[in-house]
Order: sequence, then C-alpha cells, then structure tokens
Amino acid sequence: MFETTPLNPPDAIFGLIEEFKKDPRKDKVNLSVGVYQDEAGTTPIMKCVGNAEKVLLEQAGSKSYLPIDGIPGYNGLIGNLILGDELCPVSTQPVRSTSIHSATAQTPGGTAALRVAGDLMKQNLGSKTIWMSNLTWANHTQIYSAVELEIKNYDYLDDRGTGLDFGKMMSSLDSAQPGDALLLHTVCHNPTGVDLGREQWQQLTELILDKALFPIFDFAYQGFGDDIESDAFPIRNFCTQGGEAFICNSFSKNFGLYAERVGGITAVTSSADSAKAILSQIKRVIRASYSNPPLHGAAIVNKVLGDQTMRSDWVTELASMRDRIKQLRSEFVRLVNSIIPDGDYEYVNHQRGMFSYSGLSRDQAERLKSEYGIYALRSGRINIAGLNSSNIKRVCTAIAEVMK
Ligand SMILES: Cc1ncc(COP(=O)(O)O)c(C=O)c1O
Repeated sequence: MFETTPLNPPDAIFGLIEEFKKDPRKDKVNLSVGVYQDEAGTTPIMKCVGNAEKVLLEQAGSKSYLPIDGIPGYNGLIGNLILGDELCPVSTQPVRSTSIHSATAQTPGGTAALRVAGDLMKQNLGSKTIWMSNLTWANHTQIYSAVELEIKNYDYLDDRGTGLDFGKMMSSLDSAQPGDALLLHTVCHNPTGVDLGREQWQQLTELILDKALFPIFDFAYQGFGDDIESDAFPIRNFCTQGGEAFICNSFSKNFGLYAERVGGITAVTSSADSAKAILSQIKRVIRASYSNPPLHGAAIVNKVLGDQTMRSDWVTELASMRDRIKQLRSEFVRLVNSIIPDGDYEYVNHQRGMFSYSGLSRDQAERLKSEYGIYALRSGRINIAGLNSSNIKRVCTAIAEVMK
C-alpha cells in the first residue's frame, strides 16, 4: 500500500536545521531558524518561565485531560492580553462581552490556531478564498492548502524588496470578494520584518469593513515590535470599529515556549450569541483533530499572566530581548555600511522583530551557506537574533562579500 507514496521534500526551515546540525565547521552560524537566541547563541528558558515551573511543581497537580478549549482562566488571560483591559477585562467566562464580544480556546501553538481558523472559514463561514501577503511564512500556504481554501496573494514589498509598498498592497486587494479571508501579520511580519504603520492599518481596516472581508490576525510576535500593548494596535483598532475577526496567537516566541506548544484562537464577534456559537464550532474542530490541548505550557503562561509580579518580570524580560535585537540591527547596519559605504542598508533598522528580509537572493543565500557556513533561508530571511558579538563581524563581511 505504501509503495506508491511519493517522497515529500523536507520542510524548508526544519530541513536547513538538520543540515546545520551536520555541518562540521566550527564557526558556522545559524540565521535560518525562527527562534530567539541570546548573546551566547542559546535559546534560553526565560526566568519567569523557570519560576512559574517551580511554583507549578510544588502545587499538587493532575495530568487529567483539559477541557477541549483548555484552561478557562488561561483563555480569559489571553483575551485580555490581546484585546486589552477596555475591550476584554480578565474573566473566566467562556464569552466576554464589553463593546465587543469574544471567546478564546487554548491551542497547541499558533499553528493549530491558524489551522482551526482555516477549518472554520471553510466549513462554517463559507469562505472559498484566503488572501495572504506575497511572501509569507511558508507554513501559511501549507495550512490553508490543507483546508482547501484557494490561496491568493496580495502584493506587499516595494521594488527593492526591503520595505512596504502599501499602495500596491491595497490595489491588489481590489478584487477581493465579500467573505474572503484575509490573513494579516499583526506585527513583525515573517519573513520580512516589514510592518504597516498605524495610519495604514486604519486604511486597511476601512477596506476590510467596506468589502466585508474576514481577517485572520496572526499574532505570533506580540511584544517583539514596540511593546505588548502597542503591538496589539491593529487588532484593537479593528475590533473597536465593529470588525469581526479571528486572532491566532502564539507564546512560542514571547515566552520562549516553542516546544511546549502553547497559543490560542480568539474569535471577536458582534454578539454574545455568535461568540458562544463560534466557540462551540471551535470545540468541534478541536475535538476531531487533536481532541484537547496539552497542559504544561498553558499552565506556565496562566501562572505568569495571572500573577502581577511574574507578569511584570515577563514584560521586562521580553523588553530586554526586543532591545537586544534592535541593538543588533543597528550594529549590523553600521558594519555592513562600513564595508560597502555606498550601499543603503538602513532598511534593516526599520524592519521589526527577529527577522530581516536581507535582500539576499537565493544564490547568494546558497553561497553564504556553502562558502561561509552561514545559514539563511533561501528567501533571504535572516534571523537577527542569531547574531552576537563573536559572529556579527564575520557575518556582515560575508554578506557584503556575496552581495557585491
Ligand atoms: C508568522 C507565524 N505565525 C505562526 C507561527 C506559529 O507558531 P507556533 O510555533 O506557536 O505554532 C509562526 C512560527 O514561526 C510564525 O512565524
């Protein structure tokens, strides 16, 4: 039976990670993987996470099943973190109502949230098409192909490929039809680091409402842009104006909980009844796919967000990660400019989050890997957090060399 199964090519990112591991060169540098790395090149367990784990270990616990939609308190805390005190005060109620109505279910990471949203767009909300930016996280295409939504792209980058062309983005959405899903990177666009400004988010909000599109806000990097509250602006601004949406959030990056698989799907609706109904559909989809979510990661987030001191420690730790990346960006620009004085690499300072769309071509990325042992994605995406004081000079010299 299995004889006819074709071999699927390795995942672009995980395939490179495997190649990197096998590379014997001592001075190799991994800028391909999408995880935060500190100055020592490791992906640390955040202090607030370690502290929460100690507390959890001391408490009498159980490994019994969680409800299908996860820890109730956790869901209320996520709603609050994303939507803010005004739109969603902390509550353990399954549906929270203020001027807007929302319901959240815990999911194993942001990926599962995006998939559940896709299933619902297709099965319940009647969407046939999903729009995503031309260049997006590679898994977006896989996830939405799997639910058999037709994928259309909206333009995103300018001609140079390092900044936003908002005019082009808006024009390419001209042909979007009512009910089409629109996938949006809320902050720290992956793979480019190129984000919309507030005025542009407002114009996009008007277009979405005018055209009756249905946005899915992918929120995988809250806190990596400006700060936790400001990064949520696109969502809060949209929902305040009566917009309905799915928000798929992840704690992989901002809590460093990659392996624990922790995130959530939040539906913002125009009535409490529809929030209740969509939550029941979310639970149906979850039950039929992974049944119910894992406990440990969500218990950590629940502990940290639910405790004033731990929460403020988390905010501080996250800020130091964000600041480190910003410093690396400016050091990167300084070094590359010193090697190629007539080049203009200032765009790296404007891009946000862990990733930079470096402008490297596929061939240049390949040369970086084979000649210098520096691993970037073929798309040209580099993970700025993979730089540190011992490798940044060598990386900048090599990038300048292949770009010449
Ligand atoms: C844009 C984007 N969305 C979603 C995710 C999914 O995150 P998770 O690891 O929590 O599934 C990622 C992870 O890299 C991402 O970059």
